[in-house]
Amino acid sequence: MANDKGFTLWFTGLSGAGKTTISKIVEEELRARRSRLEILDGDVVRENLSKGLGFSKEDRDTNIRRIAFVADLLSRNGVPVITAAISPYREIRDEARETMGDRFIEVFVKASVEVCADRDVKGLYAKAFSGEIKEFTGVSDPYEEPLSPEIVLETETETPEESAGRLIALLEERQLIPAAQPA
Ligand code: ADX
Repeated sequence: MANDKGFTLWFTGLSGAGKTTISKIVEEELRARRSRLEILDGDVVRENLSKGLGFSKEDRDTNIRRIAFVADLLSRNGVPVITAAISPYREIRDEARETMGDRFIEVFVKASVEVCADRDVKGLYAKAFSGEIKEFTGVSDPYEEPLSPEIVLETETETPEESAGRLIALLEERQLIPAAQPA
């Protein structure tokens, strides 16, 4: 555990793109390698740290800045972090990148609105299209794609396991995680 290097995998992507699913697979793999990991998931953060915030630009920015603040505290103390919030605005993601420097790894979890709406895991896209939910990212609110993320996970064509595997390979390449234990 002592040799953990702190970093933040900053997941960004639409609701239903696969952020939470992939983060959990990466977590399992890191724990198998005796590495720590903390996940700051948008849905979970909004139940505690960001409780009461809505989805206006101002509230989203506040939410993301809080997540970045905690990710910075942890990662600078050697704790690997995954943040898994939509984080739709480029400017605020870049702010987080600036704070964390080379500890910041932007991971674009990529799937189109059409595919996410097809999956509609939480039934929210149907409500967004009918207008029942307003300001829904990708439907009636902006999502600004990353311009130069460290990695793009193509969740329309890869399985969650494949996406997680490519991410782990990147971490290995950068020598940020311990090698896999021999079987
Ligand atoms: S963020 O924009 O501030 O980064 P965050 O990831 O925390 O968003 O929360 C997004 C989650 O909130 C979605 O996965 C979805 O479950 C729920 N949600 C509810 N209303 C909205 C909305 N208007 N836009 C996007 N997500 C919403």
